[in-house]
Amino acid sequence: MTAADLATLDLADPQTFLDVDLTELWRTLRAESPVHWNEPRGDNPGFWVVSRYADCVTAYKDNKRLTSERGNVLTTLLQGNDSASGKMLAVTDGARHRAVRNLMLKSFSPRLLEAVAEQVRKRTRGLLEDVIARGECDFATDVADHIPINTIGDLMDVPVADRARLVDWNNRTLSRVSSEDSQMDEWLARNEILLYFSDLADQRRRNPGDDVLSTLANGLVDGAPLAEDEVVFNSYSLILGADESSRMSSIGAILALAQNPEQWRKLKSGEVGIDTATEEVLRWTTPAMHFGRRAVEDVELGGRTIRADDVVTLWNSSANFDEEVFPDPTRFDLARTPNRHIAFGFGPHFCLGAFLGRAHVGSVLEGLRDLVSEIRVPGPGTRLYSNFVYGYSSLPVELVPEKA
Ligand code: HEM
Repeated sequence: MTAADLATLDLADPQTFLDVDLTELWRTLRAESPVHWNEPRGDNPGFWVVSRYADCVTAYKDNKRLTSERGNVLTTLLQGNDSASGKMLAVTDGARHRAVRNLMLKSFSPRLLEAVAEQVRKRTRGLLEDVIARGECDFATDVADHIPINTIGDLMDVPVADRARLVDWNNRTLSRVSSEDSQMDEWLARNEILLYFSDLADQRRRNPGDDVLSTLANGLVDGAPLAEDEVVFNSYSLILGADESSRMSSIGAILALAQNPEQWRKLKSGEVGIDTATEEVLRWTTPAMHFGRRAVEDVELGGRTIRADDVVTLWNSSANFDEEVFPDPTRFDLARTPNRHIAFGFGPHFCLGAFLGRAHVGSVLEGLRDLVSEIRVPGPGTRLYSNFVYGYSSLPVELVPEKA
């Protein structure tokens, strides 16, 4: 990777992530061009690529000058706006963001989530027992795909029969499985999810429960209920945020354990605890590769001037491997402490579901530790085609059971 390669680099193109050595790419960017200008390509305008940890954190904190209100991922930012702006938490800033976030946080208190985490552990154990009995499985479709959707499904009280459909729509919305899938397909899938939650929210207004969707549909902010589109967009964001990233972390965890047998042994022997190991898996997998912002005014960052109206992307997948913060960053080290990764972002938009994300990854690590003696990955997996989510849509795995 040379300076000339950087000049032709296009991080808006999902194919780039399949073609280049990402570790090498991020190392070069951090060293040579930490606040880098990705030139305009085709119909896309240019945008800034921020790759150092300190610069990403500075930008995440500054939601006054670097707003989320015109989109928070590259695709929508390059289109110029996000249709959910001001209605969905992740693309709302200021007082409204704080008020709606507080309402939603009530449904996500650790006390309540403790009960949900227990359910996650049980469900994960059950799924692992099934695939261990078979000997081999596709860890993505047989295990990981079924965990987060059911957790958020329980929290929002989504009928069990509808959940498989939601996973399918999610897959088509966020990360296209291949270059064959069209933008139109993504758009249609997104609309299906929105319509689905509009109907379900109606039912919860007539018949409220103590689930998160009922909180959104019936809760008050400044004495008034949320607008219909706020309810629907926030439901959409929960189902999406909860599902994809957690699945990708769990699949990445099993791959990393298979490739690093000495770390697997440390987990098995109890030398490393589940909580510490979970943080390293989150850092290592960093499923949400970037989030983005738009500059409201000129901002100095990492020695460069970002102009008002410019698109800025913050690459968690690089920041989490920044040698300034993580000693020996390309070593998968389950005992790594401290581990101040930014897989969940940072600052005012810090992930609302971090507790659940951790519970998902932790439940997989715990289940594997207790039930499995050996993990083998017999063939290559299938990587997602995405400039946003890193991970695998398929991963063949053989699990050897722990002797009874
Ligand atoms: C925000 C990552 C799981 C719901 C975020 C952000 C990141 C992130 C990086 C910051 C976005 C930004 O700054 O623009 C992850 C990862 C997860 C995960 C890596 C799993 C491993 C979840 C779960 C839920 C969730 C389980 C829901 C239950 C949200 C929501 C926001 C958010 C609603 C927006 C918060 C705000 O704007 O104030 N997530 N997430 N996430 N996440 Fe997650």
